[in-house]
Amino acid sequence: MHLTERLISFQQELEPKLDVVLNKIEQDTIPLTQNERILSLISQLREVSKNGKRVRPFLTEEVYRLHTDELEDISQVLVAIELFHLFCLVHDDVMDEASIRHGAETIHKFGTSLYGNRQAQEKISDNQAILVGDLLFNAVYTEFTEFILGKANTTELLRHFSTMVHEVCIGQMIDVDLQGDLTPSNETLVKKNTLKTAYYSIIRPMQLGALIAQKPEALPALEKIGFEIGLMYQLQDDLLDIGLEKNKTGKNLYADITQSQPTILTNYIQNNAPELFEDLEPFFGKMIAEEDYSRLYSLFSESGAIDYAELQIATHLEAAENIIKAFESEPEKEFFTELLDFLHKRKK
Ligand code: IPE
Ligand code: IPE
Ligand code: MG
Ligand code: MG
Ligand code: MG
Repeated sequence: MHLTERLISFQQELEPKLDVVLNKIEQDTIPLTQNERILSLISQLREVSKNGKRVRPFLTEEVYRLHTDELEDISQVLVAIELFHLFCLVHDDVMDEASIRHGAETIHKFGTSLYGNRQAQEKISDNQAILVGDLLFNAVYTEFTEFILGKANTTELLRHFSTMVHEVCIGQMIDVDLQGDLTPSNETLVKKNTLKTAYYSIIRPMQLGALIAQKPEALPALEKIGFEIGLMYQLQDDLLDIGLEKNKTGKNLYADITQSQPTILTNYIQNNAPELFEDLEPFFGKMIAEEDYSRLYSLFSESGAIDYAELQIATHLEAAENIIKAFESEPEKEFFTELLDFLHKRKK
């Protein structure tokens, strides 16, 4: 079976398992309160959860299978890693003031209609979304802890997961710190992308699979290749944000501009096409109307920023391909080759 087919069946199998945990959060709430606003905020999690790509748990599962012949079902840890991601997204969308995620209304946006008649309804719904995120975080650690109990390397697994959580939080703090800073150094941007995407989205999930298989010796190579894949993944996220392709992401377009969030692309324009950057600058921090999409898109395109990002992607791809050559096992070579191809072509 090819990787894309495996991913589709993986997504289908994971879906009901994610919902079991999300339902449980709701069920455990009912004895505590029958407040319908609170219950519907929690149930909105199921809507926001739908249509995620499930890349992180898929990587964990695939790397686990590459390193073991055991048939153990590790779905509990896969659920934990994906719901941790959902938690990140709930908080990220509050921070980024995003109204849609995976095509559904974000928790805090959904909350504004529930609290529509209140003063400070936005603040209230942001607060509720933060707390819904906290409930999710608690569920994640419950699932994760249950999974690792009794394993030979419990402490290692726990430390690994906590490292991942720490790294993504710091990546997000650098991201927030950069908001409105339109002249960051490229190193700072790469640092941010390394933490919030390469480590969080690719390296740590893959390494988790190797650790569950009790193959710690596999970690350094996974870090090396995951770094290249991860930086490529974030460059694509930045490109998808500017609507390079018809938007299939289920997210707001031009969110980075609205959030005054500098990216490798905006940095390129700033440094290499200052006259076009002058045209771009007034859009920072503003909601972008659909009629401005094509104007903005042409600024990115005319400045050469899109070509530059694509060149960077090609460079990471090549570096990853060279790392693959050094892998000894054929299944591993095949997996990474297919993975690169799939991630490179992604449109959402
Ligand atoms: C979004 O991650 C944020 C990044 C780190 C690039 P994904 O693109 O993997 O999220 P899903 O698939 O929509 O959940
Ligand atoms: C947030 O990065 C990634 C995490 C949740 C760690 P972004 O803000 O770029 O993610 P999107 O574009 O909203 O998915
Ligand atoms: Mg963000
Ligand atoms: Mg965001
Ligand atoms: Mg983004």
